[in-house]
Amino acid sequence: MHSYFMPKLKFHPASLAAAFVVLVFSCGAFGDQTVLLSSLNLDNTRQDWGDPHANKSVDGNPLSIGGRKFENGLGTHATSSLRINLDGNAKEFSAWVGVDDEELGKPSAISFLVIGDGKNLWKTGIMRSGDPAERADVDVQGVKTLILRVDNGGDGIDFDHADWADASFEMIQGAPETVPPPPPGPEVILTPAPGPEPEIHGPKVYGCRPGNPFLYTIPATGDRPMRFSAGGLPHGLKLDAKTGIITGTVSTRGEYIVTFRARNAIGSARKDFKIICGDQIALTPPLGWNSWNCFAGAVTEDRIKAAASAMVSSGLINHGWTYINVDDFWQVNPGSSDPTLHGPQRDAQGRIIPNPRFPDMEGMAAFIHSKGLKAGLYSSPGPWTCGGCVGSWRHEQQDAQQYADWGFDYLKYDWCSYGDVVHGSGDAYLEKPYQVMRAALDKAPRDIVFSFCQYGMGDVWKWGAKTGGNSWRTTGDIQDTWQSMSHNGFSQNGLAPYAGPGHWNDPDMLVVGDVGWGPNLHPTRLTPDEQYTHISLWCLLSSPLLIGCDMTKLDAFTLSLLSNDEVLAVDQDSLGREASRVSQNGSVEVWSKDLDDGSKAVGLFNRGDDEAPVTAKWSDLGISGRQTVRDLWRQKNLGQFDKEFTATVPSHGVVLAKISPVM
Ligand code: GLA
Repeated sequence: MHSYFMPKLKFHPASLAAAFVVLVFSCGAFGDQTVLLSSLNLDNTRQDWGDPHANKSVDGNPLSIGGRKFENGLGTHATSSLRINLDGNAKEFSAWVGVDDEELGKPSAISFLVIGDGKNLWKTGIMRSGDPAERADVDVQGVKTLILRVDNGGDGIDFDHADWADASFEMIQGAPETVPPPPPGPEVILTPAPGPEPEIHGPKVYGCRPGNPFLYTIPATGDRPMRFSAGGLPHGLKLDAKTGIITGTVSTRGEYIVTFRARNAIGSARKDFKIICGDQIALTPPLGWNSWNCFAGAVTEDRIKAAASAMVSSGLINHGWTYINVDDFWQVNPGSSDPTLHGPQRDAQGRIIPNPRFPDMEGMAAFIHSKGLKAGLYSSPGPWTCGGCVGSWRHEQQDAQQYADWGFDYLKYDWCSYGDVVHGSGDAYLEKPYQVMRAALDKAPRDIVFSFCQYGMGDVWKWGAKTGGNSWRTTGDIQDTWQSMSHNGFSQNGLAPYAGPGHWNDPDMLVVGDVGWGPNLHPTRLTPDEQYTHISLWCLLSSPLLIGCDMTKLDAFTLSLLSNDEVLAVDQDSLGREASRVSQNGSVEVWSKDLDDGSKAVGLFNRGDDEAPVTAKWSDLGISGRQTVRDLWRQKNLGQFDKEFTATVPSHGVVLAKISPVM
């Protein structure tokens, strides 16, 4: 026994403690030995808040669950994961688990999992504060790597103080040893670079309203100069053959079948396109950029113009990215100490006046339009926005008219401070401010996408479409962490019936690239695989895609994530069906969405801590027979398969596939 332990003593002082504890708890020279979890090196615990503690809660109090005190164990915080090498030397892992009593009375919700070599060996249901401790006695014979994990209960991580109390290993021989989480996978660009020959991208269908200004830029990759043409354009529209920008007005309702062509020195391309002039816009989810996740309260007119310019110079416009949206802080903010946010809030007629950082709203919108892009704005139905700027309360009609006069094409409409001036509950109460602004926008002579932002209150997806929303946020604000992104994205299961052309569920904006909510930015904290998961999942969900990073600092990897036409086509598919989860097995799950060509877009996700095989079964997808499987990120066929397709998927990663019947 000593000879086994000796080399380890050199490496970590915790091993010394482990040896001591083994000696203390040893059942005899040749018998089993008990090793306390708290004697191991707990610094290898990865957790989303605070620091791990031996024999104390995450806040440093004595361990206590459901009124019962424990002398030893690990105090951690969801989401948490600790990896332990057992090398097949252990027999049993035992512990008492639960929410630490330091969060008594708080809305904590967590679940505990014991995972052996990638398989769930034991797990609790959702545990809340005050619940009595649950006992784990887990057979771990033969297990090489054990993971102790605490997940949040699906409601975010707030108050999720988690204890593995009186936790110990029954060892046959040797000693357990914690190891750091594996390093994230490398930043590998999968998207093939676009070729020099013309290729036309973007949706197949586009909605406009009769009589309103029309703007659509034919998105095409390939060497410039390029010449564009469009056969069958409705009367009232004209195409700029050099830029591919279509402007004008369609006055007659109807469906117009158009053929786009693009030609350059190397070749030519064509694409069929349908313009539907009627009541609906946003027939596919809006694609664009929004200032919040990078600049938040530090936004300025210059930064907006720079984002528009970068949308063109980066080439993203050639993949269909369109909107340049100003979020909060274009209005006056009287409570701020920053003088560039001060000034008159409204003029004598009650018309809103932007803050001094936005000297020329009309000029800014015209600048954005001149590039073939569209402009968006933000407001709140209360007197104040979430950031404390002037809101639209009792000025809704004037504001809608002003946005249209300036030339805006998109309105994100929040909820903040409405509850301070109007009290109530229930759907009618929640719908009211959106009905008021809907009616106001209907009178404005522009196609303005209306995006509700009230974080999913009152199951907004159930009434968002009938209230005239083109999209509605279904979740709280996203952050650039795995916990936040995966919660927002994977919690969307079940919302598919509520999405469709013209009305979309919105799990919030993208957090790839340089983000930061203020003047200081940092590269997203999502790993490369997590970023692939983020974009793949949002495309499967038919979500609006609003880039959240500083557009002037796009790196090659971020650009590759945002410019994969086969991936974007999943989001922009004209059927407008949102994906649902079709199977789940431990930490791996498969999501699928119907596409307009009769095939399926399928996401094979691995939310676990280790690389794992993920299988998409035809029976789960509702298909049968021989199918071609195409890897959409790599834009490569992977072969033909009869009953199922299995891929090895990295931790927190995805394989996004298109599965189509073999003709
Ligand atoms: C809310 C929204 C964010 C952003 C801010 C602006 O938090 O959810 O997306 O618009 O308001 O203050």
